[in-house]
Amino acid sequence: MRKLLVAGVAAVMAVGAIALTMPSLTTAQNQAKKAEPDSVVAPRLTAADSSHLKGPKQPIFFRHDIHAGQYKIQCQYCHYTVAASSEPGVPSLQTCMGCHLAIGGTDSTHRAEIRKLRDAWKEKRPVEWVRIHTLAKHAHFPHMRHIKVLGPNACATCHGDVARMPQVFKVNNVNNMGFCISCHVERKVNRDCTACHY
Ligand code: HEC
Ligand code: HEC
Ligand code: HEC
Ligand code: HEC
Ligand code: HEC
Repeated sequence: MRKLLVAGVAAVMAVGAIALTMPSLTTAQNQAKKAEPDSVVAPRLTAADSSHLKGPKQPIFFRHDIHAGQYKIQCQYCHYTVAASSEPGVPSLQTCMGCHLAIGGTDSTHRAEIRKLRDAWKEKRPVEWVRIHTLAKHAHFPHMRHIKVLGPNACATCHGDVARMPQVFKVNNVNNMGFCISCHVERKVNRDCTACHY
């Protein structure tokens, strides 16, 4: 009983401390509440399965098919700079912990992977995600210009159906200039060499 009480007080204190350092906690909680499963339940997979999936294995088996698919969390909830800057950015642990201080996972694989996340957070150690899409330094791709014109749901045009991917892989070869040019031709967009190269 005493132990329970102490744990309860510690939990309340922890939540208080986080509320101070994490202004986005309430939005995260609202998102978590909204994170109702849809009819497409992501397949059950173990962390060992991730080596057989397409795309590079990540340090934590983070699943877009669970977050963006099954629980319908908006892409821009995590990639929040996509409409404002060149780089959408990969979310910091703070964004994850808005939910994962509370959500510990329902099956053993989920719990084990979420534990890795919580350990990294405790040790203030950023997760070193393996970058998948990356252009050579001489080419320039502004996400915000594209999102403004193609819309916030245009991600799939270039990245494929990420919301159904247990592990992200490249659908289009973004390092092939032809991929960019063919759409720019179709949409009558600037094709000056200097638009993309400088
Ligand atoms: C809950 C947070 C979260 C949500 C929601 C989310 N992502 Fe991600 N995304 C991540 C994390 C973390 C990574 C890095 C690990 C990985 O590649 O799986 C990532 C990686 C990616 C990458 C690969 C980046 C690279 O290195 O090239 C793409 C593309 C991407 N996300 C697109 C999307 C799209 C499209 C959606 C919506 C359908 C979405 N994401 C929703 C967290 C999220
Ligand atoms: C808006 C709430 C929310 C946010 C933000 C969020 N998650 Fe989750 N996450 C969930 C839910 C819900 C589950 C499913 C839990 C279950 O039922 O097992 C989950 C499951 C997981 C799992 C276990 C399943 C799996 O992928 O193997 C991992 C690992 C995970 N999340 C990592 C992350 C990481 C890393 C981030 C930050 C980039 C993040 N989550 C951000 C809600 C969230
Ligand atoms: C017109 C094609 C196109 C569209 C549309 C697009 N992307 Fe990208 N994305 C790219 C390219 C190209 C790169 C590599 C950019 C680079 O290396 O400079 C990339 C890289 C990324 C990365 C990794 C970069 C990083 O900051 O770590 C993420 C995450 C990502 N995109 C998410 C998204 C999301 C989410 C959307 C939709 C809101 C989206 N993208 C829409 C082409 C696109
Ligand atoms: C699916 C279509 C599509 C693809 C694929 C695409 N773009 Fe674009 N791009 C557009 C549109 C539409 C605009 C016009 C945006 C505007 O009017 O602001 C644009 C604008 C641009 C601009 C700004 C041009 C200016 O007017 O100064 C750059 C730079 C650019 N794209 C680079 C790229 C690169 C690099 C790639 C490939 C990695 C790429 N785009 C792939 C549709 C696309
Ligand atoms: C819409 C954007 C865009 C425009 C316009 C564009 N390029 Fe590129 N270019 C790219 C991308 C993206 C790459 C691939 C970069 C990488 O390897 O990651 C590339 C690659 C290249 C390369 C390296 C070799 C290769 O083919 O991969 C050369 C050389 C090049 N471009 C020259 C030009 C010249 C010359 C023009 C003008 C006639 C031009 N580009 C116009 C986006 C563009």
